[in-house]
Amino acid sequence: MSIQEDKIAELVERRDGARLGGGEKRIEAQHAKGKLTARERLALLLDEGSFEEYDMFVQHRCTNFGMEKSHPDGDGVVTGQGTVAGRQVFVYAQDFTVSGGSLSKTMSEKICKVMDMAMRTGAPVIGLNDSGGARIQEGIDALAGYGDIFEHNILASGVIPQISGIFGPCAGGAVYSPALTDFTLMVKGTSYMFLTGPAVVKSVTGEDVTSEELGGAAVHASKSGVADFAVENEEEAIATIKRLLSFIPQNNLETPPARETSDPISRTSDILNSIVPDSPNKAYDMYKVINEIVDDGDFFEIHKDFARNIIVGFAHMGGRGVGIVANQPQMLAGVLDINASRKAARFVRFCDAFNIPIVTLVDVPGFLPGTQQEYGAVIQNGAKLLYAYGEATVPKVTVTLRKAYGGAHIVMSCKQLRGDLNYAWPTAQIAVMGADGAVNVLYAKDIKADPARSEEIRAEKKAEYEDLFNNPYQAAQKGYIEDVIEPRNTRFRVIRALCSLEGKRQDIPAKKHDNLPL
Ligand code: HXC
Repeated sequence: MSIQEDKIAELVERRDGARLGGGEKRIEAQHAKGKLTARERLALLLDEGSFEEYDMFVQHRCTNFGMEKSHPDGDGVVTGQGTVAGRQVFVYAQDFTVSGGSLSKTMSEKICKVMDMAMRTGAPVIGLNDSGGARIQEGIDALAGYGDIFEHNILASGVIPQISGIFGPCAGGAVYSPALTDFTLMVKGTSYMFLTGPAVVKSVTGEDVTSEELGGAAVHASKSGVADFAVENEEEAIATIKRLLSFIPQNNLETPPARETSDPISRTSDILNSIVPDSPNKAYDMYKVINEIVDDGDFFEIHKDFARNIIVGFAHMGGRGVGIVANQPQMLAGVLDINASRKAARFVRFCDAFNIPIVTLVDVPGFLPGTQQEYGAVIQNGAKLLYAYGEATVPKVTVTLRKAYGGAHIVMSCKQLRGDLNYAWPTAQIAVMGADGAVNVLYAKDIKADPARSEEIRAEKKAEYEDLFNNPYQAAQKGYIEDVIEPRNTRFRVIRALCSLEGKRQDIPAKKHDNLPL
């Protein structure tokens, strides 16, 4: 063997060693837990042959607690760049087989390097997390590493999309990087996110709780809202990340990917002409409306299990990428509450940051009243959605299907709060409140004064109120909506509105940054 051949053989051997991470035994243990390795995950995510790995030979520099005796190449994270469906992405995948994927200073340097490259080239970053948190042996160096990552997350926010997949434990500092990114996805049964694990919870508060109960995928997807997606297994997680990418642009200077469709722009939906029940207290399924109006019925929902009284997600309309926000009358009558407001506000802000036009479908009886909501700061949380819509400069098209009462009408992308084109179905009711509530306020004295006729007065005044407000024409007469449209034509009218708004230019006053009601 020549010297050169020798050196090449050494390279191949070192590469093979690095690819094994923590070794075969630990890979087997990883598989035994029903988990893939970092490299297996990347192989599923990236187009075949597209992965360009960085820093395969980087090693940690720790000399505490015997760490100096072991220097695995790559140091517990696989980083680099590749393509997904032909589009460039930057990736990092923590390797649990090396020190439990724990974060060292060098690991953070590797992660920050791909984030720098992503910012420089305007491409999304996808992090596949599987980590025991800060590498305990490194002390302050590991903590400093988290600081560096958070700084990168913050500076990249609103510039490039950031997606976090949680594929294993995610404890302590490890949870904050995902929390700073745009979308978080968790795998049921094998991933957890918490600041402190069950043992610490027990010692501090005395509470007995399992990892699953404390920070499992189902909990974060439905109760806390920390996770946007909870999926059954790792394959589904990767497929979900790919699908998500297909709806979002590469960066804040681009528009979302267009998609060819054979679904005619002028397709009408007769079913929509009869979807709103005669009784205002009866529900109908907003998903049916969404599926009818978007291209090929293909709607990609975000945060499906959280605050189900509001629906948010991506779709295409006439081939253009859009974000959809819709009240769901089938869940709590579509009322707005703290969680629904938080969920929708976050989605609206993502759409605005990444040039995704917003289509809003309104059927909302108002904000949920009560002490629980007030004590939980529904005022401030409701204001988040108000603020998000108000500051958004992307095209906004709104259709009011039925109820649009009070503050909730204003919040849901109304004309007066910088909605661009607003339509209503003939079934729309745009008013300060519903008829029952209004009569109880306006005619309380008359009802009290004449108990024998109270029901009669109520019915009479209710009919008068409904006559005046249970239609969209008051709003149309005053120019608060552009038009009253036949429900079956909604797809066409919304697409035409979006086309007309394509060149929209709108600014906000120059400022350091806003003071969103957090
Ligand atoms: C160093 C770690 C580690 C860590 C795990 N390992 N976590 N090494 N630092 N933080 C190592 C283990 O010693 C073990 O090494 C290997 O990884 C696999 O771990 P196991 O415990 O055998 O695996 P498992 O039973 O699956 O449990 C995984 C785990 C548990 C739940 C993550 O290891 C754990 O609780 N780790 C500590 C979690 C934690 O408290 N992290 C610090 C958070 S504080 P060997 O060689 O034996 O295989 C924090 C502060 C940051 O992050 C704040 C920034 C703002």
